[in-house]
This record gives sequence, structure tokens and C-alpha cells, in this order.
Amino acid sequence: MQERFGIIGNSSGVRQALDRVRQIAGTDITVLIEGESGVGKELFAQAIHETSSRRHKSMLIMNCGAIPEGLIESELFGAEKGAYTGAVERRTGYFEDADGGTIVLDEIGEMPLSAQVRLLRVLETGEFRRVGSTRSQKTNVRIIAATNKDLARQVETGRFREDLYYRLSTVILHVPPLRDRKEDILPIFEHFQHRFAQQYNSSAPRLDLSARELLLRYRWPGNIRELRNVAEQTVVLLQRDSISSEDLRPNLRGVTAGGNGMDLVPLAAGGGSAEEPAGARERELIYRALLEMRGEVKELKEQVAALVAATRAGMPSVQDPSRLLVMHEETGNGGSFIEDAPYEFEPSPDDTPAEEEADSRMPTLEDAERTLILSALKRFENNRRQTAEALGISERTLYRKLKEIEASESID
Ligand SMILES: Nc1ncnc2c1ncn2[C@@H]1O[C@H](COP(=O)(O)OP(=O)(O)OP(=O)(O)O)[C@@H](O)[C@H]1O
Ligand SMILES: [Mg+2]
Repeated sequence: MQERFGIIGNSSGVRQALDRVRQIAGTDITVLIEGESGVGKELFAQAIHETSSRRHKSMLIMNCGAIPEGLIESELFGAEKGAYTGAVERRTGYFEDADGGTIVLDEIGEMPLSAQVRLLRVLETGEFRRVGSTRSQKTNVRIIAATNKDLARQVETGRFREDLYYRLSTVILHVPPLRDRKEDILPIFEHFQHRFAQQYNSSAPRLDLSARELLLRYRWPGNIRELRNVAEQTVVLLQRDSISSEDLRPNLRGVTAGGNGMDLVPLAAGGGSAEEPAGARERELIYRALLEMRGEVKELKEQVAALVAATRAGMPSVQDPSRLLVMHEETGNGGSFIEDAPYEFEPSPDDTPAEEEADSRMPTLEDAERTLILSALKRFENNRRQTAEALGISERTLYRKLKEIEASESID
């Protein structure tokens, strides 16, 4: 099964999750997959669908956090013409399209309460109505729900219906975070390194002892998705035989484990070579953004260039230097090894422009940040969680920054 679905790892956490999949194979039972972002929930959902009798029918995934609240019900259940503003023709929903198959409701915790009521009704009766219709239709769909939030906790706070929670959680499949299955880190890392080395027709650098220790000690807030990105970066950016913890550190994000992430994309302290420090940093920033956002190269380059230009100019607009982070190796044990620290920028030797002059001809770091945030939001269709993740900041920080942008725009 591991080979078939590409699920790597021999930790007890992975083995238990696979046992669960085996136990429910061939059944139609509703499953709730719990686990942090990037742990492999979708991979396990695929495995559940593929080992069920529905495997020849479709599996549709709906991300409840990515679809505007007002559209979730019509997406799921379909809508009659004229059911809401903009419903110019009748349309089918997931429950019709996936009939006989499986629907994965990703980020179920984001589902609005009104849609929860409708969902519970389908689960109990096997019938649903299109939005704007009075006619009930039968459907035969298996539901797999996934969440990276503590749903039980959301029930306590009234954000999630208790009856639906019990209905969905008949079987719970828990996928543990990477930091709780450290023995999987290196095997998965090597697997991805080899895959990317093939893909880029390049070779995978070996990790020296310090690099391996760093990977094991890092808390992997983005879990396997982040591990995969770091593996890809080592293949593309670090073209040498062997890499050390010093080489790797700039590729690990400045976010602590509890999700109370810190601000801004972390810049590598002194990253880059002596001859070409700014170029190397620019390349790193561009690459990081690309890896996470995939695409829009030109736009991203312009934005990163603006950021780099602002940093090179001595950053007249950064009021709080502690917002920028450098990584710091922890000497004790336990906890995160990343700490807040002022970041020092080397002014370029030939120009130290007067502040007004600098202001008049280049975007401030805040402007560049604002552009980057707004375009990332657009790219992820206003999904704040994904936007925050791509930018390497916490959702809470993104929220605050959006508030700041909003406030400054109302002043403008
Ligand atoms: N055990 C594993 N072995 C190999 N690759 C894995 C494993 N688990 C996850 N992956 C890979 O990691 C990436 C992230 O996994 P996935 O999309 O399933 O995460 P997720 O839990 O659904 O995240 P999110 O909550 O952000 O949607 C995918 O590319 C997936 O193939
Ligand atoms: Mg997912």
C-alpha cells in the first residue's frame, strides 16, 4: 500500500494510519482525517478512496476554506437558475457529480453553519435539494472530511455543529505532524531529493552530519510539504557534493511550532557569496516565492526586486527592525531554535542616498510587502490560510497586515 500510494515512512504514526486505512478498506464508512497542514491528509484520502469499492468512480475534493462562504452550498448541492444573484443557469453540485464516488471535504472546519445543516441532512437521509429547488434528489456518496483544526474544540466554541461532528467522526484517522515522527524525516527527504534530482537532471547533494541533525531538530511547521520544498531547494540551489547545516538553515522558515508565527519572509543572515551577496539573496527570494506559488514569474521577480532594492537602500521605511528574522542555532534542547533578532543590512558602498531622495525613487518595503500580499491573496483566491503559508507568515499575522493595509488605504 505504501508503494502504491507513495506514502513513505516507517514510524508508528504512519503505520497506525495505514492500519486504519486497511481496516476500513472496502467499507463506505465516513472518515474524519485530522492533521496539521502538509502532513499528507490528501494522500491518505486518496488511499481510502482507492481501496474502497468506489475506486472506479470519481473522488472530488472540495476545499471549504477556499470557496467563498456564499457559494459553498451551491457548489455542493447545485443550484436552480435564479436561485441567487448570478445563477444564470441551472448547475449541478458535487453530490450529483460524484454520485457513486467519494467527496473529500477539505478544511471542513471552515464550512459555514448553514451548509453544515444541509450536509447533515444528506448524510442522514441520502437526499438533498439543489439551492432554490423544492425537489429532493437521491445521492450515493461517501464522505471523507479533513481538518487541520481541532474540530472538537470548534464544537465547544459553537463554530461547528456537534451532531455533524459525531456523524463525520465515526472513524478518525490521525496523521501525526512530522516532528512527532522524526524517524521519517530523512527517508522522506532523500526520497524527494532523488525525485527532484531526476526531474532537474541534476544530482542530490549529500547531507553532512550537522545538516542531518538540523533537519531532525527543526520543527517543520509546514510538515511534509515544507520538507519537500527544502529537498527541492537543495537540489536546485545548492549544487555541491555535500551540504552542511549552514547551507540549509536559510531554507527553513521562521515560524515556531505553535503556529504563532513571526513576521515577514525570513532572510538568510549573510546568505550568498562574497562577490555577489545581493544577487544570491535575490535569487533565493525569487526561488522561494516560486516554489510556493508556482508561476507568475515575471510579476514575482518585479516584486522581489522591489523588496531587494528597498533592503539595499538601507530600508528607510522599516520602523521596527525586530520584525525581520534571522535563524539562530539553539544550544539547549527542546523548543524552537528560531529567534527574533534585529537584522542588519549592509548598505552598498557606492551609494548612501539621502532619505528623501531614496523615498522619491523607490518603493518602500511596506509598499513592496503590500503588493506581494495582495497578489498572493488574489492568487490563492482569498484563501488566507494558503496565502499565509505561501508567504511564510502565520494567518494571524496576515490578518493583522491586511488590517493595516485596509487602515492605510482608508487614510489614503
Ligand atoms: N508519507 C509521505 N510520503 C511521501 N510524501 C508525502 C507523505 N505525506 C505527504 N506527502 C506529500 O506531501 C505533500 C503534502 O501532502 P498533502 O497535500 O496530502 O497534505 P495535507 O495534509 O492535505 O495538507 P493541507 O492541510 O495543507 O491540505 C504532498 O506532495 C504529498 O504527496
Ligand atoms: Mg490537503
